[in-house]
Amino acid sequence: MALPKTMMAIAAERTEPGAKLVAKEILVPHPGPGQILIKVASAGVNRADLLQVQGHHPPPPGAPDTPGLEASGTVVAVDQAVSGIREGDEVCVLLSGGGYAEYAVASALCTLPVPKSVSLTDAGGLPEVYFTVWSNVFDTARLRPGEDFLVHGGSSGIGTAAIQLMHARGHRVFTTAGSQEKCEACVKLGATRAIDYRNEDFVALVKAETNGKGVEVILDMVGGDYVMRNLQTLARGGRLVNIAYQKGAKVEIDFRIVQARMLTMGATGLRGRPDSEKVLIRDHLAREVWPLFDTGRLKPVTHQVLPLAEADRAHQIMRESGHIGKILLAP
Ligand SMILES: NC(=O)c1ccc[n+]([C@@H]2O[C@H](COP(=O)([O-])OP(=O)(O)OC[C@H]3O[C@@H](n4cnc5c(N)ncnc54)[C@H](OP(=O)(O)O)[C@@H]3O)[C@@H](O)[C@H]2O)c1
Repeated sequence: MALPKTMMAIAAERTEPGAKLVAKEILVPHPGPGQILIKVASAGVNRADLLQVQGHHPPPPGAPDTPGLEASGTVVAVDQAVSGIREGDEVCVLLSGGGYAEYAVASALCTLPVPKSVSLTDAGGLPEVYFTVWSNVFDTARLRPGEDFLVHGGSSGIGTAAIQLMHARGHRVFTTAGSQEKCEACVKLGATRAIDYRNEDFVALVKAETNGKGVEVILDMVGGDYVMRNLQTLARGGRLVNIAYQKGAKVEIDFRIVQARMLTMGATGLRGRPDSEKVLIRDHLAREVWPLFDTGRLKPVTHQVLPLAEADRAHQIMRESGHIGKILLAP
């Protein structure tokens, strides 16, 4: 297929103070060994992109400067070393950068088909959240059948995916969100109890709902004072895993509760992991999660699709945090 030489992509332009996203003309990238090139249908916006634009979450070595950790689209070129993916396939891809563009290069190892029941546009918001949720909840925190689960930020991209997936797998799901409207959306997605964190105490409520036991696994993106409060909410033998620390990374921990209740704490990042680790998560998603879209147990939760050129406005919407689910950019 004849491809254009240049394309529109989004770049961060430093301003005083902060930075602004602008559209630029850059060269269309070529797929390297083991890679594919897609014509992007949509790119998911992630909170990490906001941090990158502010200079706090730099791309790992070798990743493009263009933001964008996930995308969906049609395959337009395939490196000869890749098997099982062909030009014309509709796919969604986990990226270490480069999604905010008309074309993006992806590793074949981080590529999944678009589930049949999901539109090509909505699929751009699936990879980052499902790779993150699966790897943290099952690989790191080892949630077992019948155990109870709490995810903070239930209306976030991560939260809407985590609630649906754990509900579909038969777990009781507790969550926190910042308004009544968001709590109602979380319950519709399958949360047993959504807690309005601005007006309610999640420690007391989760304890009450579990007859004093607490939950076995917590997925947290808040940090700060939530760390000790999470430890108080865990059942004996419980596991806490942090994927972000929006309220602060430096906290004081009373390890007596960790020891007395035999708790485990962990924290992970996804972007910097090698493809050899990401492909293991990809394979779990293909086997255990993607079929749940086709049976209607999982649905993409898209808050809004904006034109690619409006990436700066998309970031503003995420900063204001009025969204429920994913914000997407469509070239
Ligand atoms: N480590 C990793 O590999 C990894 C991968 C993906 C994402 N993440 C992190 O996961 C988080 C979610 O990502 P996203 O892209 O889905 O972003 P997002 O949609 O903007 O979500 C951020 C969420 O944090 C919630 N929140 C903020 N303060 C809270 C508090 N005190 N209590 C409860 N919830 C609170 C917000 O809820 P309200 O709006 O209701 O306040 C919002 O739902 C981000 O921090 C991101 O950096 C980490």
